[in-house]
Amino acid sequence: MYKYLIFIGLVFFALILGCQNGEDSAAIGKNGKKIPGSELRVLMVQLYEEGFDLKKAVSEGKLPKSHIDYNKILGAKSTEPGKSSTPEYAAYSETYFKQMANLLNSDKSNLKENYTKMIQSCMGCHQAMCPGPMVKIKKLYLD
Ligand code: HEC
Repeated sequence: MYKYLIFIGLVFFALILGCQNGEDSAAIGKNGKKIPGSELRVLMVQLYEEGFDLKKAVSEGKLPKSHIDYNKILGAKSTEPGKSSTPEYAAYSETYFKQMANLLNSDKSNLKENYTKMIQSCMGCHQAMCPGPMVKIKKLYLD
């Protein structure tokens, strides 16, 4: 009986640790600090930061990799309630997902073109729904 209790205790402990790790690592920025704000803001900051890695890889002619669940921008809660649940937002998200998938499956001949289209899809949604960060996102265009 005692053994079972220890076993159940360990499983429970592992589960709790597992969840916490998942949550924390999802909200940590490149500088190692927690990103404050809405679910969507956290994802956006991570996409922006990772954008510079993608840009570097593409500038060197390498196929970039993304480690972010970028599909989660659809369904993530935004700072402004309801902003990320409009049909307009969903349409811009779909365009971005398509461009991101194209980029990640590029071959060398269309790598730069696909990268630029992906950044343009970030800009498209921002121009229509949230123009503030456009100044920052422009830095992700290839030099
Ligand atoms: C479908 C629309 C949409 C797409 C596509 C999109 N964004 Fe955003 N982005 C938003 C919205 C809405 C916010 C505001 C988030 C909030 O505060 O909850 C935002 C916020 C941001 C911010 C500001 C974060 C801060 O400091 O508060 C940055 C930077 C950003 N996005 C970069 C990007 C980049 C880079 C891409 C492409 C890889 C991208 N976005 C694609 C809608 C979009």
